[in-house]
Amino acid sequence: MMRTLDWVDDAIELVDQTRLPWEEVMLTIDNVTELVAAITRLSVRGAPALGVAGAYGVVLAARACGSGDTVEAFEDSVATLRAARPTAVNLAVMVDRVAEVARSKGQEAALEEAHRIRDEELAASIAMGDVGADLVVELTGRTSVRAMTICNTGGLATVERGTALAVIQTLHERGALLEAIPVETRPLLQGSRLTTWELERMGARYRLAVDSAGPFLLSRGAADVVLVGADRIARNGDTANKIGSFSLALGARHAGVPFIVVAPESTFDASTPDGQSIEVEYRSGSEVTGFAGARTSADGAEAVNPAFDITPAGLITAIVTDTRVIRP
Ligand code: MRU
Repeated sequence: MMRTLDWVDDAIELVDQTRLPWEEVMLTIDNVTELVAAITRLSVRGAPALGVAGAYGVVLAARACGSGDTVEAFEDSVATLRAARPTAVNLAVMVDRVAEVARSKGQEAALEEAHRIRDEELAASIAMGDVGADLVVELTGRTSVRAMTICNTGGLATVERGTALAVIQTLHERGALLEAIPVETRPLLQGSRLTTWELERMGARYRLAVDSAGPFLLSRGAADVVLVGADRIARNGDTANKIGSFSLALGARHAGVPFIVVAPESTFDASTPDGQSIEVEYRSGSEVTGFAGARTSADGAEAVNPAFDITPAGLITAIVTDTRVIRP
């Protein structure tokens, strides 16, 4: 299994997710300006992967400081990195964690800390897959499961295996996955472009659906469980995740199907009391009015483009982390 993001020869090496599924291109990034651009255009995305990328980004900033940049330039880089995307809490938390080590112990210790964060995320993905697969079998009472999911929560969004997609992968490896139903995930098609790419590589059976088919398919009994990731989980359990997650949660409640959030402990944000207080990223309307350079709406059309929504804790059957199962 390949790592989708790692530290190689004094630089960050990552799969350019904007080019998938058409071509597999690795990017080598050795400065913070390029990393922030890669994060902003979603070459690297998904909350845990953003945390690992941000951690290594601080190492790049510390090294630049060691070779002539001022301390002010280091602090500017840290501030720019942590704000590159506002909703995924992992980015700010991991940037702060490594920056603190860099300030107190220097750049080599910072690199060690970033490696530790990468390894924690790897271990968390394996644990979430196991705990989540057990829970799915328990909640559905089935030995062969049809699982609906949204966005991309696989190795591309972490470092390997993933969160919600790690549960689907573990079910598949146990011979307990009848079918996955990823939804496309408009407007940037992470479900269609990235999740199908990962499901193909794992050899799992799946059928892609448009986002708006999700609740209807659930009402017709097409899936036994909905599994989603998270970008930030507030203290009361309200969960920010890709736009469309809330609709799936409503559809799942209507159909009596378990709705499970799968996320590492690092995605909990104890300082945010509830979903109302989570900052939701609004991205450019041009992502909605066109795709891949082609207009898909009338000339002059304006769009509103929230990248995430908030699923209230009351609609969540369980939150699976690497260490526990929470039933809000
Ligand atoms: O805008 P994206 O592609 O970064 O959104 C990602 C998601 O919403 C994922 O579901 C979330 O980060 C969890 S990834 C394991």
